[in-house]
Amino acid sequence: MSRSMEKIVALCKRRGFVFQNSEIYGGYNGFWDYGPLGTALKRNVRDSWYHDMVSAHNELLKPEAAPSRFQMVGVETSLIMNPQVWKCSGHYDLFHDMMVDCRETKSRYRLDQLRCRWVVFDGETVKQDETGAELSKVMVTSTEEDFDADLTAEALRAFGKKKKYADKLQWDGPTTTLDTIDVAQFNQVVAPGASKAGTLTEPREFNLMMKTVIGALGTDDDAAYLRPETAQGIFVNFKNVVDSSRVKLPFGICQVGKSFRNEITPRNFTFRSREFEQMEIEFFCRPDESSGWYTYWRDRRYQWYQDLGISKDRIILRDHHAEELAHYSVGTADIEYAFPFLDDGEFGELEGIAHRGDFDLRSHIDGKLTKNAAGELEVELNEHGQPKYRGSGKDLSYFDDQAKERFVPHVIEPSAGADRATLAFICEAYHEDRQPDEKGAMQERVVMKFHPRLAPVKAAVFPLIKKEGMPEKATEIFGALKAAGLSCQFDQQGAIGRRYRRQDEIGTPYCITVDGDTMTDGTVTIRDRDTLEQVRVPADSIADEITSRLNS
Ligand code: GAP
Repeated sequence: MSRSMEKIVALCKRRGFVFQNSEIYGGYNGFWDYGPLGTALKRNVRDSWYHDMVSAHNELLKPEAAPSRFQMVGVETSLIMNPQVWKCSGHYDLFHDMMVDCRETKSRYRLDQLRCRWVVFDGETVKQDETGAELSKVMVTSTEEDFDADLTAEALRAFGKKKKYADKLQWDGPTTTLDTIDVAQFNQVVAPGASKAGTLTEPREFNLMMKTVIGALGTDDDAAYLRPETAQGIFVNFKNVVDSSRVKLPFGICQVGKSFRNEITPRNFTFRSREFEQMEIEFFCRPDESSGWYTYWRDRRYQWYQDLGISKDRIILRDHHAEELAHYSVGTADIEYAFPFLDDGEFGELEGIAHRGDFDLRSHIDGKLTKNAAGELEVELNEHGQPKYRGSGKDLSYFDDQAKERFVPHVIEPSAGADRATLAFICEAYHEDRQPDEKGAMQERVVMKFHPRLAPVKAAVFPLIKKEGMPEKATEIFGALKAAGLSCQFDQQGAIGRRYRRQDEIGTPYCITVDGDTMTDGTVTIRDRDTLEQVRVPADSIADEITSRLNS
């Protein structure tokens, strides 16, 4: 099976899964549009997540492996929030990438480490990431925007890689990851030797939040930000939810919605976009129970992707090393997928599960927190000894009426990307095989083996020929499937084999054919996308039959 990214991107455009944003104007880097099938697929991803995490959750029953019973509720908060939220959350000061510009070409670079830790590059040496940890790898990447063939050639020549990557020195988009190299090797070979290195500016911080202006005056005082994560909308509503919903610890508040980040180098199709959708849970619990909940969510979220068809050998759960943890985090694990644009053995992040302690709620009570020399969190002060950014001053603690204790809950945050999950499901589904056509000749087939819950179209109905009452009967069946709430297509164009191929390519699990026998014995054939098995079933029970197959 060959699942190259080029083929997947081509199929996405050809069949209406994903289009380049503003394509007729040449596109817009970092933004993507979903076509009819992509919209249905992504909605199924989002709905499966919300169903499995929130709607289907039964707070009266303890799920297997959960430390205790718990409640789950949802919120939908604004994309734009009071700017003070981002000051207290730390995003205003800390949510940045390190960026360098080439003085000669004016190209812009983000030199980042393999797992997206930022690398500081001063033209001579690659140093440490923001946690001070020594880096072991750097990734030389390029996007159309920052592609500099000379600099790239020079760097690659120094590694003796030019031959292997010679074809990449012409931009062939959408994004090229040129190589992953050892820092020691980079320092030893490239940095001293690369004459162009001296043409790079000092690294500077680049805040990833997208700025906008609210109000008529348009001054700096009117600056606001499109949210870079949905999580903060949950934290600032913690008290509202507790007061209005009578939820008791432990409980989770969930949100699905758009987030925006001014990524310097958007790349790899929808993987790193500037506008994307997140599916986040903030799970609030007692501090002394937080470790158990962290393990529970980590394992549960890992299993979720596999339940929806991601094969075990293409997904990993990777615990962060201590030096990788954000300054507030007690523990973090990433769920990562072997995307086809990565080298063998490499994985890209789908979701992070973080133990955030009480960092977020305390920040919104007292003001932006920072770690002191003893490693404890305390309110960051300005030069006048005042809190640098004032918190809300509201009491966001929780009273546990059984233990008769008041405390600020701890938080476990499973934070997933809806677009990344959709991309992973697309990549996972892509298969090529060879199947016999109606005359027995072997034909290449592209088949998207989506899990039935995710498949954008659940069934297709074909009248074998356009006469003898078959189109009318097929229309009746199509209506019955639609009435049962199933998304389905009707196709009477071309040979039956071609109609099967069209449905295979978009991942439709079942094709229903109305033929001559239907008109006499009232049965139709159902053809299974994966096994290619065909069975006859009564036409009048088709909606029940398809529904039960989809749910089995
Ligand atoms: N509240 C925590 C948070 O936002 P994150 O790791 O920055 O954590 C969570 O983001 C998830 O959001 C990622 O695992 C990824 O799936 C998705 N995501 C983040 N940045 C993205 C981008 N630029 N394009 C697409 N998805 C992105």
